[in-house]
Amino acid sequence: MSQIIIRGGQRLEGTLEVQGAKNSVLPILAATILHPGRTVLRRCPRLTDVDASIRILRHLGCEADWEDGALVVNTAGMNRWDVPDHLMREMRSSVIFLGAILARCGRAEMSYPGGCELGPRPIDLHLSTLRALGAHIREEGGRLLCQAGTLAGRELALSLPSVGATENAILAACGCEGETVLVNAAREPEIVDLQNFLRALGCDVRGAGSSTVCVRGRQATRGADYAVMPDRIAAATYLCAAAAAGGEVELTGVDARHLSTVTAALHEAGCHVSGDSGRIRLRSEGDLRSIGAIRTAPYPGFPTDAQAVLMAALLRSHGATVFVENIFENRYRHVDELRRMGADISVADRVAVVTGVRRLSGAGVRCTDLRGGAALLVAGCAAEGETAIGDIHHIRRGYEDPVRDLGALGADIRLEP
Ligand code: EPZ
Repeated sequence: MSQIIIRGGQRLEGTLEVQGAKNSVLPILAATILHPGRTVLRRCPRLTDVDASIRILRHLGCEADWEDGALVVNTAGMNRWDVPDHLMREMRSSVIFLGAILARCGRAEMSYPGGCELGPRPIDLHLSTLRALGAHIREEGGRLLCQAGTLAGRELALSLPSVGATENAILAACGCEGETVLVNAAREPEIVDLQNFLRALGCDVRGAGSSTVCVRGRQATRGADYAVMPDRIAAATYLCAAAAAGGEVELTGVDARHLSTVTAALHEAGCHVSGDSGRIRLRSEGDLRSIGAIRTAPYPGFPTDAQAVLMAALLRSHGATVFVENIFENRYRHVDELRRMGADISVADRVAVVTGVRRLSGAGVRCTDLRGGAALLVAGCAAEGETAIGDIHHIRRGYEDPVRDLGALGADIRLEP
């Protein structure tokens, strides 16, 4: 099994163009189904989660191929509406295909997405919004059997601003007669990117980024050539690595506003951070201080996906920092691995307290999940000696090439087959 080997202690210097956003391209790939023709996606990151989505599109009868660095999808030949179990199991967020398949085909079938490393991942809000739009959904033998008949737009409200349920509702609403008004929608930038893509297809979607999204369904669609937004969590990861190791880096192609809670935390920890709509610069002496409590929350609150990497950046800070993980039940699985490197972290339910230590030591560690694995990359950059990171398939789900990217910033990092 391949490992990523990092020899810590290097200051990070340099400029990096940030990859396209995993959490934007996945719903956009599902949305390509709404147009029975060709769409071109640029800045589409080469991730295993994208590979899984491509396999689903091909299973459905669509074409999806890389051409000159862009992903070209043509759904004209779509002739199925089911997602088989083995493809669902590859990526639990495949449930995002449900709304789009229903909108296109009037029916859909897929297995219940399993839980994941972060704990149970219910889809009750996905199903309740689709049922509210007129879908008849039976849950039988671990499979979801959905008949849409005629989906009809209406006002509906989410009991919590679920990102995935918001995306599924928007995609299904594109197939509804009339207007759908979604209240208490999630406000993440990735939902704005989905809206922008849908509008490029000719769909009538408005309000994304606010808590109320309006969709007028059954609009004629056209092909689009669309560039996916940059990945704000990948950007946060590399900023945390530079903060922890010390150095001066510039990330381009990223909108600083999308990760302002992360840069505010790094500023409070003693980094010099500046940015605008196209780039972020960070300078750190590597000698950070503890900061006020970090409570994860739906956007625009502190992103749960950046909790692990910020924690890793603060492992050698002076003082103690409290983290409260309010989104997922089991999102501290990286703590045991960080402790192997000398971190002092105590966990009780949703609260973790990081007490800074003077030094971290390189060690053999294993990724527990996507962002937990990213935290090991950050800690490895700040640790003395070599860190060998195993089970790196978790990282490949969301990071196109961390060895390339951290290497571009001066890290002593290599992939060991
Ligand atoms: C998306 O997951 C992201 N994934 C996650 O990123 C991210 O952590 C999460 O949003 C929160 O920002 C993708 O976009 C592919 P939710 P999603 O529905 O849609 C509960 C990463 O590391 N809930 O907003 O699954 C749920 O259990 C990944 O890139 C229900 O109870 O997140 C969770 O506690 C990890 N019922 C909370 O809501 C539902 O029907 C937020 O989940 C749906 C969700």
